[in-house]
Amino acid sequence: MLREGQATAIYRADYQAPAWWIETVDLTFDLDPAKTRVLNKMRIRRNPDVPAQALRLDGDELNLARVLVNGGGTSFKMDGSQLVLENLPEGDDPIELEIFTTCAPEKNTKLMGLYVSEGTFFTQCEAEGFRRITYFLDRPDVMAMYTVTLRANKEAFPVLLSNGNLVEAGDLEDGRHFAKWVDPHKKPSYLFALVAGKLVAREQLIKSRAGRDHLLQVFVRPGDLEKTEHAMNSLMHSVAWDEARFGLSLDLDRFMIVATSDFNMGAMENKGLNIFNTKYVLASQSTATDVDFANVESVVGHEYFHNWTGNRITCRDWFQLSLKEGLTVFRDQEFSMDMAGTPSARAVKRIEDVRVLRTVQFPEDAGPMAHPVRPDSYIEINNFYTVTIYEKGAEVVRMQHNLVGREGFAKGMKLYFERHDGNAVTCDDFVQAMADANPDSPLAQHLEQFKRWYSQSGTPAVKAVGQYDAAAQTYTLTLSQSCPATAGQSEKLPFVIPVQMGLLGQDGTALPLQLQGEADSSLSKTLVLTENQQTWVFHGVTQAPVPSLLRGFSAPVVLHYDFSDAELLTQLAHDSDAFNRWEAGQRLALRYALQAIRTEGEVAADILPAAFVSALRDVLRHPELDAAYKELVLQLPSEAYIAEQLDVVDPQRIHAVRESMRQQLALALQADWEWAYETHQDTGAYRPDPVSAGRRSLTGLALLMLCLAARSTGDTVWPGKAYQRFKVAGNMTDRFNALSALVHSGAALAQPALERFHAMFKNEPLVIDKWFSLQAAACDRGGQVLPAVKQLMQHPDFSLKNPNRARSLIFSYCAANPGAFHRPDAAGYVFWSERVLELDAINPQVAARLARAMDRWSKLAEPYRTAAREALGRVAAKPDLSNDVREVITRAIGD
Ligand code: TRP
Ligand code: ZN
Repeated sequence: MLREGQATAIYRADYQAPAWWIETVDLTFDLDPAKTRVLNKMRIRRNPDVPAQALRLDGDELNLARVLVNGGGTSFKMDGSQLVLENLPEGDDPIELEIFTTCAPEKNTKLMGLYVSEGTFFTQCEAEGFRRITYFLDRPDVMAMYTVTLRANKEAFPVLLSNGNLVEAGDLEDGRHFAKWVDPHKKPSYLFALVAGKLVAREQLIKSRAGRDHLLQVFVRPGDLEKTEHAMNSLMHSVAWDEARFGLSLDLDRFMIVATSDFNMGAMENKGLNIFNTKYVLASQSTATDVDFANVESVVGHEYFHNWTGNRITCRDWFQLSLKEGLTVFRDQEFSMDMAGTPSARAVKRIEDVRVLRTVQFPEDAGPMAHPVRPDSYIEINNFYTVTIYEKGAEVVRMQHNLVGREGFAKGMKLYFERHDGNAVTCDDFVQAMADANPDSPLAQHLEQFKRWYSQSGTPAVKAVGQYDAAAQTYTLTLSQSCPATAGQSEKLPFVIPVQMGLLGQDGTALPLQLQGEADSSLSKTLVLTENQQTWVFHGVTQAPVPSLLRGFSAPVVLHYDFSDAELLTQLAHDSDAFNRWEAGQRLALRYALQAIRTEGEVAADILPAAFVSALRDVLRHPELDAAYKELVLQLPSEAYIAEQLDVVDPQRIHAVRESMRQQLALALQADWEWAYETHQDTGAYRPDPVSAGRRSLTGLALLMLCLAARSTGDTVWPGKAYQRFKVAGNMTDRFNALSALVHSGAALAQPALERFHAMFKNEPLVIDKWFSLQAAACDRGGQVLPAVKQLMQHPDFSLKNPNRARSLIFSYCAANPGAFHRPDAAGYVFWSERVLELDAINPQVAARLARAMDRWSKLAEPYRTAAREALGRVAAKPDLSNDVREVITRAIGD
């Protein structure tokens, strides 16, 4: 027997069209933090394509006061949390349904539905939050026209916003006022939004290419206005970019962004009224780093691009989530690359995106939460807003882009909108449009097989073997593919894998590629691997080549090739593909790390061979490479990425080995770090552009390395310089880099710097988040981080209720600091289990994300493994867990 509210899985195969349509919705809100009254008048109609059924409306934590049908009373019943109307009039005529409910926004700590943040009302309806506002068919394939009237006390809530156009506003009795909004586009309920509170706006009038006038607004709390310039610029760039690249114009007179500091995720694309986490809106040079500036641009773009890919064409059901998210991430990645401009800056963005994919998505795809880009089942949909849906989904769109070409992709998008604008569709509909618009492409030729990227989970492995025949001057390349079994999926069929490649001569020059049976030659080619194994023969190859495979990371796979160190050093010095040049350095560093991890005994101080160190020096000193790119090459693979390569993970060993490698680089390149630091100072006015941001990121790394070196040499000059830089820096990037260098190197000056930093920014919540997170992510030398984190939980600025704050302290420790979290005494795991339970009572969605910090427990070496399993067991033993946390923990434990 299922208890009410207990978890039941939902299956994609069970999809059924709704038995009823909701044509119009007229909502009237009397906003009151303690008790908000919601009058919902709907015009509904039977769906003639579906056998007649009762109307079952979703609800969650609502107080129902009244239900009227065509103006009169009616019988109804409750089935769990659903409101069921069995005796609605027969026939095809529309029915007027009126439902009156109340809810308690100020008690809403889940931040789903209608809630209050710092005295302002906000909503979050995706995926299933609208049912916490009123009874509704809360599913994305029910699209309706909305009219919304907001009524509230005028002094406390002077600004009243909802989707679409403001058609009427005025004063009411008792110091109250109202505003009436009409959205000219039909939409699913998850895109509904309202905001009411004391806000001010930066405004901008723009004219589109098409000649239409639009008002853009960015709403924030009164003190924050001067931090909105970058967000507004990003919004204007987004509007222009979508018109220029895809011919997609803004379809609204008014487009609004509103920022709140209480938000479960990054931002939300509600029609015409995007709601953002302040983290992705507010930016000034004194409070935000270059990375923050870049994130604002990319998230503003992401939400704006959803207006077409998500809102105009939406998802039929939540299994299709990647239809909008994968596509929109692909679009925001392309936007950021186009904004970055230079080929080098584009490569930097690509490398950063791939790094996220490999360090977060690959582990997800190999762990207990593995799921296809289009999942087959879920218990709690909130748990499926994952890196697989977003980032792997974007890679699947990127592969289509690569298989049909840039022009072909634009044609595919055009056909997609011609066919599906205004509808709720599936991932299949998208690929079909892409293929139909490009009938001669490899995508169309292998369409059914390509769709396996949507249905099969797991990261495929591609093995490459090359053979050079000097006499025949041929090079034979054999590629084979396999995919490991994943949670719930053991059998895998071959994928369609585009492998972009080139060949380098021993001196690093590009060799022409002449495939057997092909007339023209080129320097780079895309091989399309569709079988388990395929072979390509290149002709006229005058010397044994170094293969440069999977250029630009042309498919989300793990590439195995038995490179020699010399071959990788050649690529690192010369590959014309910036991605593979970086990748060669990562492969070498990873190779040495794994060797040192597997070698018994004490960790050596000289893990990196001289040739590699010298190759890195050449990159650092290179006269032409950009600073941002150098910084990426000089970064060692993360502990998480190293751990993924191992079957049995000893997090302390990995940490010790990586620290030793870092220390070696700090010392061996000391003079070069000094040179880099002195010569890359940015003296002009602050601008967050890729070139000057790159200089700051390289000087930041150099300063850290110099402070680390100082640890060994006993030098106090560099920590002193870092402290000085920290004090006088003219922007947050330089200031925070200097502070981080002190903290991560364990310098004595770290403590006074942290105190000073807090005092300087005590009124800047987003900076205080950085202050917490830096301490939680600090390099652990002797177990000091956990006690510090516990101490920080007692700090007056700490609150578990605010997701940004919880993430900054708790997640930074549990999910971003493996060396400090995986303690031999298990105290990190105990701390984790306590926080998961504590958070679950406040905000299950956030708790479930924290729960995932233990996803990879079964790979841990002893004593970690047993201790981690016990911690999972303690969480699982709690009787009234949310579905969110229960699903994650159950999958982690397995059976
Ligand atoms: N659709 C949002 C995006 O742009 C994701 C999102 C924001 C979300 N807030 C949420 C998803 C709350 C679930 C719950 O990616
Ligand atoms: Zn999105």
